[in-house]
Amino acid sequence: MRAAQIDRFGGPEEFHLVDDRPTPSPGPTDVLVRVFAAGVNPIDYKIRDGSSGVAKKLGPGDFPLVLGREGCGEIAAVGDEVDDLQVGQRVFGLAPMGHPGGFYAEYVVLPATSMVPAPQEVPDVVLAGTALAGITAWTAVHDLGKVTAEDIVLVHGAGGGVGQFAAQLCLAAGATVYATASGRHRERISSWGAHPVDYTTEDFTAVTPRPTLIIDGVYYGTYEPSMDHLAPGGRIVMLPTLADLEPAKSRGIDISVPAIVPDRDRLSALAATVAAGHMHVEVSAVLPLEEVARAHEIVESGHATGKVVLDVAGIPV
Ligand SMILES: NC(=O)c1ccc[n+]([C@@H]2O[C@H](COP(=O)([O-])OP(=O)(O)OC[C@H]3O[C@@H](n4cnc5c(N)ncnc54)[C@H](OP(=O)(O)O)[C@@H]3O)[C@@H](O)[C@H]2O)c1
Repeated sequence: MRAAQIDRFGGPEEFHLVDDRPTPSPGPTDVLVRVFAAGVNPIDYKIRDGSSGVAKKLGPGDFPLVLGREGCGEIAAVGDEVDDLQVGQRVFGLAPMGHPGGFYAEYVVLPATSMVPAPQEVPDVVLAGTALAGITAWTAVHDLGKVTAEDIVLVHGAGGGVGQFAAQLCLAAGATVYATASGRHRERISSWGAHPVDYTTEDFTAVTPRPTLIIDGVYYGTYEPSMDHLAPGGRIVMLPTLADLEPAKSRGIDISVPAIVPDRDRLSALAATVAAGHMHVEVSAVLPLEEVARAHEIVESGHATGKVVLDVAGIPV
């Protein structure tokens, strides 16, 4: 099968396309998915360069490695024990924690429990970018942030993949939302009903009320002032898993980092919300699999708009 793989950790130049990678076979509880589109996430480049915790658990036997932790496609085969997904069904989802992933390829094998049926009306590239960022935001907003209509929420990085979901989920819960991003995201953020704060020209500590909840998708440069600005008794949900939580904990601040699982009910609920038009998912770049290195460069720049997605199957535009 066709795949973009790396033979060792390193920069985007490590990617190379092959067309003779063996197609994997599903185990009894797995499905084989023919991939249409794959979402690109910061975790992907942190695995590619060897810096993430997931990468540190990989050994020589895992290479050549295919990255990609979320995507949309069609069931091509099911394991003997899978009775709730059928061959030919369009699905989307994400790889569970500790799973090597593999959506940057024509086919991927995943536990059936990590995929759900895809709503007809939502395009492949949108669903491919919804699974991981959407589940992360849901975990941050509801499980950890426990957002309510009384909350004043500050979302850092609202122009990016997770931030767009987090801000809109908080708004749906009735909270008042301030969202930091550069000025080019202003109109989009306002259209959701949130208050945009341009971090390139404004000091968020001066222009927003003290938040009861901060969801921080940035960390560098935002963490220290956020701790000072947080309302007494407020919570911080930090998205980057490599963040040092000690400074907040030592100040008695309730701080946590999402650990995500491919919860089927949540994936279906997210997809239904997108399908109903209640959640706008910005996909700013759709690149062919051949341009995977370019996709990584965009995400690694730290200034992606919404989601960057790989067209794996040659989706008609
Ligand atoms: N814990 C988990 O399970 C989990 C899951 C997913 C993601 N994450 C982590 O969460 C973080 C965000 O992920 P993502 O997918 O949303 O990333 P992303 O799509 O790459 O987000 C980048 C966004 O950050 C904005 N940004 C950069 N500097 C900023 C600043 N100083 N203030 C406000 N916004 C700023 C950029 O906006 P401009 O272009 O306007 O600068 C850009 O839109 C990453 O570190 C990722 O690894 C964790």
